[in-house]
Amino acid sequence: MDAIVVNQLSYSYQVSGRQILKNISFKVAPGEIVALIGLSGCGKSTLCLCLGGIIPHYLGGELTGRVSVNGKDTKEYKVAQLALEVGLVFQDPDTQLFSPTVEDEIAFAPENLCLPVEEIGSRINKVLDILGISALRKENPNRLSGGQKHLVAMGAVLALEPAILVLDEVLAQLDPVGKKTINDILLDLRQQGKTILIVEHDLETVSIADRVLVLENGLLLRDGQAETVLADREFLLRHKLECEV
Ligand SMILES: Nc1ncnc2c1ncn2[C@@H]1O[C@H](COP(=O)(O)OP(=O)(O)OP(=O)(O)O)[C@@H](O)[C@H]1O
Ligand SMILES: [Mg+2]
Repeated sequence: MDAIVVNQLSYSYQVSGRQILKNISFKVAPGEIVALIGLSGCGKSTLCLCLGGIIPHYLGGELTGRVSVNGKDTKEYKVAQLALEVGLVFQDPDTQLFSPTVEDEIAFAPENLCLPVEEIGSRINKVLDILGISALRKENPNRLSGGQKHLVAMGAVLALEPAILVLDEVLAQLDPVGKKTINDILLDLRQQGKTILIVEHDLETVSIADRVLVLENGLLLRDGQAETVLADREFLLRHKLECEV
């Protein structure tokens, strides 16, 4: 079974009524890393919100077509149920962080699932260790840097151990060492069989992906092997996805 199936998805936010996603179809197999790239405003975050069910459940608007994650149609399941399948890390971590400490933030979702206390403790230690943020465990997430906030939001999502991760520009505010660390973590997670969709502008990170989806003005312009898409300089330049050096 495919991890993600998006079939003829079109979407307009309620306020503007303008179509943001236009008849998009693609599939992601379990264990694949797929990078979603495209210029600002092309609809990448909107697509991520559709994968987590935030659209249409919380944001409304008009959605046609089908989105399913691990076989669950996002229209038919609640966001909390979908969160067990898809861990969505938002582009703006402030919308996701609300606990007084980093460890509380990571414990929040497993506590809601009523997991045993020892299991929660071991998950907290595990994700803090994987992400290299053990030293931050007693800090207030609101007082961290942008890059650190993204790591905490990622930890909170990883603690639920979803099979699919959707990461919306989580590396944008990290330094080169932080980016390399996350790239290595993503490769490890793939080895463990996780499916990852990552929105990213940095072509070096994109190069760890198996496949690349290119979105332009709400249309899926290209869906190809990462090697092939990244080697097509003429295509990248023409669509302003790379600068002339
Ligand atoms: N809540 C909202 N209500 C109405 N329109 C929205 C909303 N969120 C986004 N949009 C519009 O949808 C379009 C796509 O936005 P989106 O955030 O998906 O782009 P993006 O590709 O993620 O851009 P970026 O690279 O800057 O993050 C934009 O024109 C934006 O103004
Ligand atoms: Mg975005």
